[in-house]
Amino acid sequence: MRLPLSDVEALLDEFGSPLFVVWEKELRHKAHRVLQKLRAEIPNGVCAYSYKTNPVLGVCTILHQEGYLAEAVSTPEYRAARRMEVAPNQIVLNGPYKGSAMQEALITGALVNLDSEADLADAEDICHQHGEACGVGIRVNTAIGDLPWSKFGFSLDSGDALAACRRVTQSPWLRLRGLHVHIGTNILDAELYRIVAARLAVLFRDAGIGRDDADSGYVDCGGGFAVEDAIPIGVDPEEWRVPRTEDYFAAIRSGLCDEGLEPDVTVVLEPGRLIVANAMSLLTRVVALKTIDGRRSVIVDGGVNIVPSAHYMKHPIRVVRADDPSENIWDVYGPLCTQYDVLSVGVRLGTLAKGDILQVDCVGAYTIGFAAQFAYPRPAVILWRGGGRPRVANPGDVGRHVCQGLHPGWN
Ligand SMILES: Cc1ncc(COP(=O)(O)O)c(C=O)c1O
Repeated sequence: MRLPLSDVEALLDEFGSPLFVVWEKELRHKAHRVLQKLRAEIPNGVCAYSYKTNPVLGVCTILHQEGYLAEAVSTPEYRAARRMEVAPNQIVLNGPYKGSAMQEALITGALVNLDSEADLADAEDICHQHGEACGVGIRVNTAIGDLPWSKFGFSLDSGDALAACRRVTQSPWLRLRGLHVHIGTNILDAELYRIVAARLAVLFRDAGIGRDDADSGYVDCGGGFAVEDAIPIGVDPEEWRVPRTEDYFAAIRSGLCDEGLEPDVTVVLEPGRLIVANAMSLLTRVVALKTIDGRRSVIVDGGVNIVPSAHYMKHPIRVVRADDPSENIWDVYGPLCTQYDVLSVGVRLGTLAKGDILQVDCVGAYTIGFAAQFAYPRPAVILWRGGGRPRVANPGDVGRHVCQGLHPGWN
């Protein structure tokens, strides 16, 4: 999204620089298209938005308005979903530590995916005390490609996952509703989803999910769908070939169908990056120009503390003004007192002057949640609605630095 310089100047005057801007129209469009493509491949498919990818409440609210369920991995995320009036049966609760949300989630019918023996024992206790059996899912991990995600859930390959399913079915206090897996992030090979979906379908059948139940059960294949602009540093852009969204979904359908999973089983996906990566940019002002190690270098007022993903991916960066013909290449540094505060190297930005504004794109995923106060507070996040007044999306701790709370009266 490109705004005229006058609009961008007005935004920074009002909300300060640097500033995160969520592009509401782009976000809605992407969310809508992804859901459409999912339904075209898998009519029983639903998307639960992975909150941690970008937990700005304005973003989550928009995605719920677009028909997304919530995927929460902690008590604060679960409570945020409830505050936004997401019904419990529209919330997926994942994660190795679910905290106090587990009780309410179980009793009110959220999709709770158990991650460990400890989770299983807690769930059984809670339901026993409640005096009624509650539904749960089992999270599994499985070796696939060279993906390293073995920390979560029960191992499917060792038989632990089937044993956990049996423990649930034998418990008078638990009912097995479904299975969950999340194989990683930014995955370029759609075939991996076919393989993992097929493995889940086999376990689903072996565990007898939905066999004697009015509820036909669910298979949750997690997120991980890659984004074209999220090219990791060191990867040749030519090698970064992202499957079409529909190819991921077709692969999942095919894996489930190959193993004869009934079409009435609900298929849950938990996209994060795919939905929000391109829906947010950072606006940041040039504060100094330098020659560093013989290279043209620019220092801006937003650093890697607020765009930590700059450590591992090359964000597109442009100057907010009419293109100029100059071919000048720049290294872009943030304002922090560390040599590692580099937003990008070798960016064609043309002629630059102090006060110019740069737009860093594709910062919607894993940026705001990981953003740290380091020397500066976290910036404001606003929703750009394509006209009218922008809304502040997530006031939170914006504009306040940890230093400001150190001494009474120092604010
Ligand atoms: C359980 C789970 N679901 C969904 C996601 C979202 O992943 P992505 O942003 O790669 O789609 C994550 C991210 O780590 C996750 O852990």
